[in-house]
Amino acid sequence: MYTYNDFDEAFVRSRVAQFRGQVERRINGSLTEDEFKPLRLMNGLYLQLHAYMLRVAVPYGTLNPAQMRQLAYIADRWDKGYGHFTTRQNIQYNWPKLQDVPDMLEALADVGMHAIQTSGNTIRNVTADHFAGAVADEIEDPRPVAELLRQWSTDHPEFQFLPRKFKIAVTGAAHDRAVTKAHDIGLRMVRNDVGEPGFEVIVGGGLGRTPMVGKVLRSFLPKGDLLPYCEAIVSVYNLLGRRDNKYKARIKITVHENGLEKIQELVEERFAAISEGFTGHDQALLAQIEDAFAPPAFVSQSTDGYEAARLANPAFRSWTDTNLSAHKADGYAIVSISIKKHGATPGDATSDQMRVMADLAEQYGHGELRISHEQNVILPHVHKADLAAVYQALREADLATANIGLASDIIACPGMDYCALATARSIPIAQEIATRFDDLKIEHEIGALKIKISGCINACGHHHVGHIGILGLDRAGVENYQITLGGDGTETTTIGERAGPGFSAEDIVPAIERLVTGYLGLRNDADETFLRTYRRLGMEPFKAILYPAEDKANAA
Ligand code: HEM
Ligand code: SF4
Repeated sequence: MYTYNDFDEAFVRSRVAQFRGQVERRINGSLTEDEFKPLRLMNGLYLQLHAYMLRVAVPYGTLNPAQMRQLAYIADRWDKGYGHFTTRQNIQYNWPKLQDVPDMLEALADVGMHAIQTSGNTIRNVTADHFAGAVADEIEDPRPVAELLRQWSTDHPEFQFLPRKFKIAVTGAAHDRAVTKAHDIGLRMVRNDVGEPGFEVIVGGGLGRTPMVGKVLRSFLPKGDLLPYCEAIVSVYNLLGRRDNKYKARIKITVHENGLEKIQELVEERFAAISEGFTGHDQALLAQIEDAFAPPAFVSQSTDGYEAARLANPAFRSWTDTNLSAHKADGYAIVSISIKKHGATPGDATSDQMRVMADLAEQYGHGELRISHEQNVILPHVHKADLAAVYQALREADLATANIGLASDIIACPGMDYCALATARSIPIAQEIATRFDDLKIEHEIGALKIKISGCINACGHHHVGHIGILGLDRAGVENYQITLGGDGTETTTIGERAGPGFSAEDIVPAIERLVTGYLGLRNDADETFLRTYRRLGMEPFKAILYPAEDKANAA
């Protein structure tokens, strides 16, 4: 794993010292809240509904056990003993006191972490496939280029005041687990005709109030050109992006308003002009970073014990069926730890749970952890011989829920429980849906299903790309929940379609239950997922299930 060098360390420490001074001046009143706001946002500090919120970056979702333990320590010492893992591979602390934040940042710096550029109109945390470096269908580990992009974008003098925030996601695999088509820049590693690795560059995707699927700007970009090409894109956006209207400021609107061709022309022009300036230093750096990401020393041992444990213990078998993914090394598996226990807050982990996960990574996982954009934690390299022990430890820590990819593995934004922008609650709705499906015991029968919930149109909960999306709104002071269907956040990204009028807080959970149990009667067989059934049949039969009374009224 990449560790900070002396330059990184000195840079982060000096930012902490600078912010400590700014906090002191805010507390003694020499800075007003208005003066302080841009300074705190440069360091990931928001003001939420009830308190400050500190957003810490987990670059490309990768953590080592010492870092995870430090996150737990910070949660205990300066917050309420838990943290919230988000869809952009960050962790958020919801209750810090202003005077403690510099100490929290100092504690992060001790383990090579920070909160720089986790807010503001800058290039945000670069995210990546959470199975990177482990998964069977990968061309190359995308994290070295993500790290290169992180170093290039951090404190980049030209890109500190972009028209709006800017998000980059990278994947090295055929199956897109990084939602690249819903990012400002999405990078998908592909091979050209002669087998060389490079990137398909996607631009202008995004959710929020105007959801858009990203468009292909370049179908093949040689790996070595990545940095000057990304610099060209962001420079063009910096010049053309709208600064007159916050809601039209993202690059998706720039691409939409100017047309893909014009953007392509300008980017290629700028790329030609600046690429000479990249004299190979970036490639030398990339080679060093790649060395730091060399795969761990995989071991070879029997998996007989694993097979026997599966036969002997149905609960373990059920967990292995849902929470494991295929690893590229023989005898290994990728473990997804669900942070979505039925009835709990999606994405929240207690400090004790963080420590358990850190211990497991150390003991059985070659010292690596990942945060997934679906708000779960991954142990990317576990030998099957160790899985029964891992499962046992997870059970004891309340972390063994066997629901990855199922109805209760819900992404939910913080909504009205925390967020100042919220117009409805998200967390209790997610909790009720998860509990309801657990009571019915039909989650496994339903199979792959992505339900995603946001508490306002900003779409932090990714509802547009949920197979079932739920958007909470305020209608004359009453919470109202709209349902979208058919969304998809993978390589076949689709924005969901609105099903019809919204539901009240009381009616939304029964409506979802009706929808999902109704799907069981519509599918061809157990292998036809909700999304595939929707794609085959379209909206109408689902609408009839959701609005039965209206259907009768229309027929009368
Ligand atoms: C204090 C809490 C939060 C605030 C104030 C906040 C604010 C926002 C705003 C204003 C947007 C809309 C940006 C735009 O497209 O113009 C947004 C989008 C988004 N937020 Fe949040 N958010 C918060 C928490 C979260 C959390 C907890 C997550 C993850 C669970 C998250 C993930 C996202 C994502 C993925 C988007 C979509 C961005 C895009 O498509 O470009 N946010 N957020
Ligand atoms: S979707 Fe809206 S309510 Fe939810 S976290 Fe984002 S800004 Fe807040």
